[in-house]
Amino acid sequence: MHFLNGLIEYYIFLHENSIIFVENYLVIRMEKTITGFSKFSKEEKIDWVVSTFFDDADSARKTLGQYLNSNQIIQDVHDDFIENTISNFYLPYGVAPNFVINGKEYTIPMVIEESSVVAAASLVAKFWSTRGGFKATVLSTTKIGQVHFMYEGGVHELKAYFEEAKDQLIEVTDAITKNMRKRGGGILDIELRDKTAELANYYQLHITFETKNSMGANFINSCLEAIAATFRNDSIQIVMSILSNYVPECLVRAEVSCPIDRLHKENAKQFAQKFQQAVQIANIEPHRAVTHNKGIMNGIDAVVIATGNDFRAIESGAHAYAAKSGKYKSLSQCEVKDGIFKFWIEIPLALGTVGGLTALHPLAKLSLEMLQNPSASELMEIIAVAGLAQNFAALRALTTTGIQQGHMKMHLSNIIKQLDATEEEKNYLLNYFANKQVSHSAVVAAYQKMKE
Ligand code: MEV
Repeated sequence: MHFLNGLIEYYIFLHENSIIFVENYLVIRMEKTITGFSKFSKEEKIDWVVSTFFDDADSARKTLGQYLNSNQIIQDVHDDFIENTISNFYLPYGVAPNFVINGKEYTIPMVIEESSVVAAASLVAKFWSTRGGFKATVLSTTKIGQVHFMYEGGVHELKAYFEEAKDQLIEVTDAITKNMRKRGGGILDIELRDKTAELANYYQLHITFETKNSMGANFINSCLEAIAATFRNDSIQIVMSILSNYVPECLVRAEVSCPIDRLHKENAKQFAQKFQQAVQIANIEPHRAVTHNKGIMNGIDAVVIATGNDFRAIESGAHAYAAKSGKYKSLSQCEVKDGIFKFWIEIPLALGTVGGLTALHPLAKLSLEMLQNPSASELMEIIAVAGLAQNFAALRALTTTGIQQGHMKMHLSNIIKQLDATEEEKNYLLNYFANKQVSHSAVVAAYQKMKE
C-alpha cells in the first residue's frame, strides 16, 4: 500500500504478521507493539511483556511475581491506582524521630531509596531538638486555576462581557463548591487577564481557590471546566482549563536559629561562616543551586510520598519558585548576625491531608496518623522542616568532612552485605577500610585476601 501524509511518502507492507512502515529508506518493523493490551487480564499482560522483551522470560516473570503482593486486598488497592499494572515497585519506608516543630514532637515518615537521607534527617532533628527546635509558619494557602482562551474581538467588549458574567461563573460551580464552602474554602476571586502582548488573542480567567485540607486538584479542575463551559460563546474559544502547579501563594517558612557558639564543637565561627558562604554560592550560581535544592527535595519528596501527596506537583512548583526572580536560586537562606546563626527556607507546598491517595493508600493513612493527623497547613510546616533539615545535613557535611565520608560508610556496608560476610568478617572489613578508599573492587580484594 502507498499513501501520502503531508509531504512524506509512506509505503506499508505486511510481513510475517508485522507491519513495516517505509518512509524514504527508514524501515520500522512494528513487532513489539500491540492493540487491546488494556483489555488483557494481568496474567496475559505479564505473558506478553515477558515473552516480547526478555531473553529469559521465566526469570522476568519470577521477578515481577516476587513484587506482586500476596495479600489480594492490597494488590487490588494498587491495581486501582493506575492502569496496566503487572507488579509493584516498592520503595523503603523509614522514619526520622526526634523532630521538634513549634514545640511539638514528631517522628517523620520518609519514603526514599537513597541511603543516608533518613539517617541525616534523624541526626539533624536530634541536633536542633536541643537548640530550640524548628519554627515553622504557613504564610499563605491559596491556589490558582486558569481557563485559557482565545478572543479576537475588542478588549472593552470582552471586559464588559466578563463583568456581566462574573456572578454567574461562580454560581455554576455552586454544587461543586458546596461542601468546600462549608469547610471555609471555595473560589476566592476570578480575574480576567489580558495576555495579548505575549501571544496574539490570548486571555485567561485567572481564578484563586482555597481548598483547606485537600490538595484540591480535582476540585479546582471541575470548577474550571464548569466555568469555561458557561463563559464560552461564539467569539470565545476555550483552549484549556487546568489548575496551576505554580503556587507562590501557598507558601510556608521553616527556620532554625541558635547562638553561633552552640553550632559546632570546634571553631563554630568558622563553621557558621563557611555554611553561610555555601548558601550564598547557591544563591548566585545556578549549577550549585540546582544541587543544593535537590538536597532539599530529598527531604521534601520523601515525606510527600509517605503521606500520599503528589511529588511531581511539589517538584515543579518548588523549582519554579526557586526561579521566580528570573534566575534559578537557592530555596534556603542563611544569616550570621550579632552572634546568632539563622537558617531558613521558604517554599510553596500544595498538599492535602484528606482525599486523593491520602485516603486510599493504607501506608499514606498510617503516615498521617504517625504525624498526629495534621491539617494541610501543619503538613506544609512538617514537610518544609524535613527539607530544611536535609539541606542543613548536606551543607554541614559538604563544608566540613565532605559528603563522601557518610556515603562511603553506607557503600561499604552494602558491598559487605553482597559478599555474605559473617559478623566477624564484616567487623574486620569495617576496621580495615576505616582509613582507606572504598571501592567495590578494593573491598572484594580485601575480602578474598582475608579468606586466603
Ligand atoms: C545528594 O542526594 C544531595 C546533595 O548533593 C545535596 C547538596 O549537594 O547540597 C548532597
